[in-house]
Amino acid sequence: MHYLQDRGFVHPVASEITPQPVYLSRRQLMQAALAGAAATALPAWAQGPQALAPLPGAKSSVAGALVMDKPTSQADASSYNNFYEFGTDKADPAARAHTLKTRPWTVAIEGEVKKPGTWDIDALLKLAPLEERIYRLRCVEGWSMVIPWVGYSLAELIKRVEPTGNAKYVQFVTLADKAQMPGLRGGSLDWPYVEGLRMDEALHPLTLLAFGMYGQVLPNQNGAPVRAVLPWKYGFKSGKSIVRIRFVEKQPKTSWESAIPSEYGFFSNVNPKVDHPRWSQATERRIGEDTLFSKRRATLMFNGYEPQVGQLYAGMDLKRHY
Ligand code: MTE
Repeated sequence: MHYLQDRGFVHPVASEITPQPVYLSRRQLMQAALAGAAATALPAWAQGPQALAPLPGAKSSVAGALVMDKPTSQADASSYNNFYEFGTDKADPAARAHTLKTRPWTVAIEGEVKKPGTWDIDALLKLAPLEERIYRLRCVEGWSMVIPWVGYSLAELIKRVEPTGNAKYVQFVTLADKAQMPGLRGGSLDWPYVEGLRMDEALHPLTLLAFGMYGQVLPNQNGAPVRAVLPWKYGFKSGKSIVRIRFVEKQPKTSWESAIPSEYGFFSNVNPKVDHPRWSQATERRIGEDTLFSKRRATLMFNGYEPQVGQLYAGMDLKRHY
C-alpha cells in the first residue's frame, strides 16, 4: 500500500483500495457533481478569475511608468488586499466587495477650481487616453506588488477643472455606504476614508487615476470604479473607490493620520531609513515570491522612483515630514 501526502493529510492512494475502473468513473462523477455545485452555489468572486470587461491601455511614455520587475499574478493582486470598508483581513475585500455597486457612479470636483461639477464615471473614463503603467506598490505593512494599472495622469483632470491660486492641496474622499460596505460597521477608521496630496504631487505625471488593471476594469476589491495610485508612497495614500476630489488651501487631514497620529504622517513617502514606530521599513516581502526560502527585498528610497520624484522633496527633512 502506498500513501499520499496531500495538503497536510496522509492517506492511502485511492486507486489501491478500489479497483481502478470503478474508482475512475466514481471520481469523474464526483468531479462533475462538484463542478456543477460550485458553479451554482458559490458567489461569482469564488468561481475563479472574475469576468471583467476589457480595458486596454496604450504603452505609457511617462518616465518611470513601466518598471521591469515581474508583475504580480492577477490572482494575488486581486485576492490579497487592504480595503477596510470590507473588513480588515486581507481576504475580506475579495470575499465581500461584490456588494459594491460601481454603476451609476459620479465623482464630484469641489473647492478651489474654476470648473467644479459632477462627472459621470463613464465621462471621466474618456477624459484622456488610457495608458498602461506598471508600478511597484509598497504597503506600509512591509509587502509589495507590481501591478499593470490602466488609467491616466491625475494632472489631465486637474488641468481640465482649472484650480484657482488658492488650491494648494488635493483631497480624495472615497465612498462610505453602510449598505454596500460591511466594514463600516466596525470602528477601525473614521469614515469616509480620506487621503490628500500637495498640489505638485497631485500634478506629477506618475500620479495615476486608475480605472483598470491587467487590461480589464478594476475588480471591486482593488478600488473600482476609480482609485488613485501613487507608486512612490505607501499604499494607503492610494485611495480606492473615489467619490469626491476637493481642491483646498490647507493641508487636509488623512484617515491614517487622524487614526494614529504618532505613526502616520501626511507625506508617507516610501523611505527605508525611516522606521515605522513598531517595525523596520528597510526590507519588504514581494507577494508571490514569499516561499520559505525566498529573501526579503531591500526597500528602495521613494520605492525606486527617486529619479522622478526626489526633487519634489528637495530641502525637506524627511525624518520629520514622513
Ligand atoms: N482605500 C480605501 N478606500 N480603503 C482602504 O482601506 N487601503 C489602502 C489603499 N487604499 C484602503 C484604500 C492600503 S493600506 C493599501 S496597501 C492599498 O489600498 C492596497 O491596494 P490593493 O489592495 O489594490 O493592492
